[in-house]
Amino acid sequence: MTTLWSGRFDTAPDAQALEWGSSFRFDRRLFEDDVTGSLAWARALARAGVLTDAEARQIDDALTEILDHGRADATFVDGPDEDVHSFVERLLVERLGDAGRRLHTGRSRNEQVSLDLRLYLRRRIPVLQRGVHAVVAALARKASAAGDSLMPAFTHFRPAQPVLVAHYFLAHVAALRRDHARLDAARAEADALTLGSGAIAGTNYAVDVQPLARDLGFGRVVANSIDASSDRDFAASFLYAGALTMVHLSRLAEDLVILCGDEYRFFELSDELSTGSSMMPQKKNPDPLELVRGKTGRAIGHLMALLTTMKGLPSGYNKDLQEDKQAVFDAEDTVAGCLAVVRSVIDGLTLNRDRMNASSSGLLLATDVADYLVGRGVPFRRAHEIVGALVGRLAKEHRDFASLTVADWQAASEFFAADIVGRVTPDASVSAKRTPQSTAPTAVRAALAEVEAWVAGAGG
Ligand code: ARG
Repeated sequence: MTTLWSGRFDTAPDAQALEWGSSFRFDRRLFEDDVTGSLAWARALARAGVLTDAEARQIDDALTEILDHGRADATFVDGPDEDVHSFVERLLVERLGDAGRRLHTGRSRNEQVSLDLRLYLRRRIPVLQRGVHAVVAALARKASAAGDSLMPAFTHFRPAQPVLVAHYFLAHVAALRRDHARLDAARAEADALTLGSGAIAGTNYAVDVQPLARDLGFGRVVANSIDASSDRDFAASFLYAGALTMVHLSRLAEDLVILCGDEYRFFELSDELSTGSSMMPQKKNPDPLELVRGKTGRAIGHLMALLTTMKGLPSGYNKDLQEDKQAVFDAEDTVAGCLAVVRSVIDGLTLNRDRMNASSSGLLLATDVADYLVGRGVPFRRAHEIVGALVGRLAKEHRDFASLTVADWQAASEFFAADIVGRVTPDASVSAKRTPQSTAPTAVRAALAEVEAWVAGAGG
């Protein structure tokens, strides 16, 4: 096997070390992007007068044939080559001879590999965004189906205050919408042409990089050839966006593992997305959700791995950077798989409204009782003490506010009037909320309408 650099050496490379250091096993995933970049580079070389029009046409035809072949048959993208760039060039030279040997004029694999990864992310990030979009759409459908049903919201994982079930689903939507936007930002960061940078110093040929950038659909050209050869910030930003998406999916999974469990039974998982136990016949386990939670470690790990690879590099390309691709590809696969399964879980979820409603009442209305006193002119801190003492007594007696007569209320504070009885309900609690981000039914309806409009509009 000859390499792209064998001319420099008298002896063949150590076969084992070459194989070990090769990236073709995994960078074959960049095949399509590598050919796309080379097609554009050939056109740019022709415009610069480096290739004749006839040579450029020959290269175009041969690369197009190679691309079609590889697209039709994935096993075609294979061989003893060091990496995908060497593979494409070998095939081109096999087909064209010297015309093929001219393609790499003024170009380096250093800028080429960065270009390929940028092209790859530019086309793959929108696929992940469609996955995020699908989960948001599924959550919005559940929010809509929940109507005015209530559930307790938790702080410190203790029941805190009643909220609309829709408000709960929209909380997860809010996080996933940020992930969608973060993926947009990662895509924008990748959207820069590296060609023209050469190996490190630029290129000696009069390649006009602006039309080349336009040809490849890039929004801009990199600012500095030294930086360009080792800049993987765009890959790190992608991994960060992916890791945070996984963190959000993991938190949703954790919520559902608990809230579908026997202790709460707020929601029920569909049988299709549950698993049984080989020993205990009664078990209905949430394996898919546990796997989402578990795989989050991989996605976070890939971000840490790339940052660690990058931190010790001297300026310019270093082979360490070859490690970027497996991190990006595995993170992509992990996020895509988890988005798909979470979407199915959400679609299959049923709501146990009675369980949730029953859990929305009781002492978690204490803040509303304190707010009632504030309405009567009692300073909040004083109201908190009065209600705290009342809650303490009731909790000891295993009672809640519903068991209190007007006389009981007035024994706790003279500021309680007869209307307190009707005011201390979960419905009154949510309806009393005033801010747009709150669980007030009017606010939640407006928030859901906004999300539904986004779902209808955002390139799902
Ligand atoms: N396989 C290499 C990588 O993934 C391609 C770039 C090689 N450049 C070089 N100077 N050896 O980073």
